[in-house]
Amino acid sequence: MKRREAIDKLTGREAYIDDIAIAGVWWGCTVRSAVPRGRIRDIRFGAEIDWSEFVVVDHRDLPGPNQVAMIENDQPVLASDRVRHIHEAVLLLAHPDRDRLREARRAIHIEIDEEPAIFDYRVPPPADTVQHGGDNVFKRVRIDKGDVDAALVAADHVVEGVYETGAQEHVYLENQGMVGYVEDGVVTVKGSMQCPYYIHAALRHALARADNEVRVIQAATGGGFGGKEDYPSVLALHAALLALKAERPVKILYDRDEDMAATTKRHPARVRHRTGVTSQGRIVAQDIEVLLDGGAYVTLSPVVLSRGVIHASGPYHCDNVRVEGRAVLTNAVPFGAFRGFGAPQTIFACERHMDVIADELGMCPLGLRRKNLIQDGQSTSTGQVIRDGTDRIEILDRAVRDAEFHQREAADRAFNSTHPYLRRATGIATFYHGAGFTGAGETYLDSRAQVVGLATGEVEIRTANVEMGQGALTTFVKIVAEKLAVEPDRIRVAEVDTFHVPNSGPTVASRTSMIVGRLLERGCDALCATLGGDWTGDKFERELLRWHAEHPGQELIAEVRYEPPPGVEWDDERYEGSAYGTFAWATYAAHVEVDLRTFGVRLLDFVAVQDVGTVLDEVLAAGQVQGGVVQGVGWALMEECQFVDGAMANHNLTNYSIPSSDDVPPVRVVFYETPYAHGAQGAKGIGELPMDGAAPAIVNAVARATGARPAVVPLTPEVLMRVMGSA
Ligand code: MOS
Repeated sequence: MKRREAIDKLTGREAYIDDIAIAGVWWGCTVRSAVPRGRIRDIRFGAEIDWSEFVVVDHRDLPGPNQVAMIENDQPVLASDRVRHIHEAVLLLAHPDRDRLREARRAIHIEIDEEPAIFDYRVPPPADTVQHGGDNVFKRVRIDKGDVDAALVAADHVVEGVYETGAQEHVYLENQGMVGYVEDGVVTVKGSMQCPYYIHAALRHALARADNEVRVIQAATGGGFGGKEDYPSVLALHAALLALKAERPVKILYDRDEDMAATTKRHPARVRHRTGVTSQGRIVAQDIEVLLDGGAYVTLSPVVLSRGVIHASGPYHCDNVRVEGRAVLTNAVPFGAFRGFGAPQTIFACERHMDVIADELGMCPLGLRRKNLIQDGQSTSTGQVIRDGTDRIEILDRAVRDAEFHQREAADRAFNSTHPYLRRATGIATFYHGAGFTGAGETYLDSRAQVVGLATGEVEIRTANVEMGQGALTTFVKIVAEKLAVEPDRIRVAEVDTFHVPNSGPTVASRTSMIVGRLLERGCDALCATLGGDWTGDKFERELLRWHAEHPGQELIAEVRYEPPPGVEWDDERYEGSAYGTFAWATYAAHVEVDLRTFGVRLLDFVAVQDVGTVLDEVLAAGQVQGGVVQGVGWALMEECQFVDGAMANHNLTNYSIPSSDDVPPVRVVFYETPYAHGAQGAKGIGELPMDGAAPAIVNAVARATGARPAVVPLTPEVLMRVMGSA
């Protein structure tokens, strides 16, 4: 099947929020704090501007509580008396002319009495920087399995390591943008987003409006990667507040500089491992500490931490595991959702540490992994017994074969011993990723989706899940078309508009194909049940037309709700049980070349082997893997957010480097397909998994090529030079 929106995108017909013309629209912009923490003393409006031409909004214009509804509602929509980070929004302006708007923004001076701020998440906060609870800790999570202390004492060897990962900017192709307007008394926002109903909830809360008094519509969305999971709620509130006060539509479009400076990034993290192993390489104890920099407000840090902690011990069986996680406040621009959601951070540490353990024991890193990989019947750190039939050893072996690990090792050794300054090696990482919300999250979400039989004989899909470049539109159509055996062009997908589609949950957490796709399959069943049989193809269409002939003017809507798979139990107090309905499994292999003159790392080859359950669409699935790997390459080697006083100094694409085609070799993608009974057609999650494996595979390769022990990403040339200097 051709990608649904392909022609519109190729021809430029696709309408992103910047393309959508709205009569009488004004432009909105944000006036931000220039200091990281302090008390707002005064706001001065320069005399050179005629302020009567402008609409100015501040916190007093909020009809409801001045809170961005998320997990803890601690983030103000607009700062009132204090600020906690540079770029925090204080005022909003609207004007018909964008140039005048920029001039006006420059003419506003926010005077702030600075207070002590904290920027290093790794140090205990001095008393005068405590701003959340008594200790700046947003969230603590703890996993306890077996007796770690006793097992560490009994172990033949204890191997320790500390690993750090940096922030990362999403660099979606389309910057954040939203338009707000009021139509028939309904506050409406339209724009780029992943989670229409998160925005809906945020508008209801801060604007103090009823369900049917706010409306959220998705415009074509040019990439998200988690960056349009949380932040659009802020932007939507800003656009809505301006529209309410201006009494006309107001559009806010961030340019790239503002987007990179003011919106969320991946959480920086530090992970410590203390691992007990036998002389034969059996892991007997894992003692892990996970620390995340949360930034200035809670946003999604508690759930990012949760996923990070659950993935921290890796795809290995161990009877004794302790993971202690904390997410802490700093006066940095808040960190938020980013593809992988905490797992890339902890998997980097775990997989880099596995190679360090192998080194210490003088073992082959492949053998160490083979010995410890979870087998069916064994359990994860939360005690979730894995029994999915996936052959995890075969996935590892396939990556080793395809990467020609052993042949290359011999060839690289010969090459390295003769070449004056180039060093080559292959590194691997073995990992997993849980799909869907963590723990009981999917049950709380209580997602609903609709499959509608239209009077034309066509079928309409109604969900709140968005196409953002990943191919959800095509995948949904395929799932329904194959279930009903009808042509894809007989299937429509409803515009994502909270007035017309039910809340099928956010487009996040690798849940869309697996969970919402499964809802659609069940919706097809429900539709057929109404039509009196398991019809398919032409017969289905005839029965649908007959129903409409018998029920003129009525809608045939089949709505289904999420039902948790049987046997999925989660204890959120003890962090025990089934953390996810299922996991995708993978081994990635990176072949690299290090230049000892420049400390630059070049990727020569990349193999990505995974079991994501049934592959719904080969092209889209391979695209997800390749894209995730490339994002991982950037995070591993070059994407460096340089923070000054908690704000990104290099907030533009001239000095924040992301991989170009020249930096990425062909990514060779292999799928194993062990169907998952509760995913659409047997699918498991795919979107985030590929983000987890590239960085540890690459850094392991660099370690093997150089003999150094890098423990940090991004492993820029400067960092590698320091590591090798100390080696
Ligand atoms: Mo997200 S990081 O879009 O689950």
